[in-house]
Amino acid sequence: MDPKIKDVLNRSLVLIGSSADPDKTYLEIFGKNGIFTNLAQEIKNIEPQNRAAFGKNLNEAKEQIQSALDKKKLSTLNSQLSTGFIDITAPGRKQKIGHLHLVSQAIEEIVAIFSRLGFSLQSYPEIDWDWYAFDSLNMPKNHPARDDFETFFVKADRNPKYGQQVLTPHTSNGQVREMERVKTPPIRMLNIARCYRRQIDVSHTPMFHQFEGLYIDKNVSIPQLKGTFDFFTTNFFGPKRVTRLRPHHFRFTEPSFEVDVTCGICQGRGCRLCKSGWLELGGAGMVYPNVLKNGGIDPQKYSGFAFGWGIERTIAMKTELPDIRLFYQNDLRFLEQF
Ligand code: DAH
Repeated sequence: MDPKIKDVLNRSLVLIGSSADPDKTYLEIFGKNGIFTNLAQEIKNIEPQNRAAFGKNLNEAKEQIQSALDKKKLSTLNSQLSTGFIDITAPGRKQKIGHLHLVSQAIEEIVAIFSRLGFSLQSYPEIDWDWYAFDSLNMPKNHPARDDFETFFVKADRNPKYGQQVLTPHTSNGQVREMERVKTPPIRMLNIARCYRRQIDVSHTPMFHQFEGLYIDKNVSIPQLKGTFDFFTTNFFGPKRVTRLRPHHFRFTEPSFEVDVTCGICQGRGCRLCKSGWLELGGAGMVYPNVLKNGGIDPQKYSGFAFGWGIERTIAMKTELPDIRLFYQNDLRFLEQF
């Protein structure tokens, strides 16, 4: 055996023999600056023709040291046990348990609330065709949302029937897909998915989540839509918060509304944060007949309502968060609070 290796082997065995703490001794030998580690690095200075033999010697020495260490560890543990050094009655250490991200928590809560009204969760593609994201929803080719300032387009071949692929900018792409899946109403869909838009500021992140509701049946009416929002609002925000519908314009609903909820800080009286007493939740309306037709449903027979709201925004309204970018900065000091 190479004399240098023999020397390190002997020194290691002496260290192990007199060791009171085998873990510490392990580091003295194999740690970053351990005597064996330093020796092993010398292999690069050995002449090429002797390198293989040196390596073999090193391995033999390593095995001997390792087995002496293992024996020492076992005997140390045994003597600790027999002298009562380990107190097996001592209380265990509590493991730190994590929890779901607050967006996942909210998704679970939203699904549970709407399932009580008979809505069931569906999921539809996150990368979808122009047809489902825009055209089938009555949105003309020159609609500003279809501009590449707003929407992420995917570089892929166009489909002659369905057009280009986009990262879904809203969950409304699930509407016509759900009509095609169910074919004959009633339909009670809840579609929750990641959405993408080219925006970032205190109230926008380029990736966010929406939940989309779609209810189609015979004689569906606006009071049912309002009742559904009231049910959601009292269950999600608490009994003191109420909603209102404000006329708006969306291409895929007629009439269309924006849904507001009373501010949680001033309870609707008006404060510095909300000004008017109301916070905007999202869009809604009665499904436009053309959209029903595009999904193969007869608008003479059936009517429906739809709504689409951002999840991060909805949480921010419950917890009075000033900046939704916080959701995605992965700062535990923030996430641990929920
Ligand atoms: N998709 C719309 C958006 O992202 C929100 C929306 C408005 C969804 C009206 C709907 C609706 O289902 O009926 O801005």
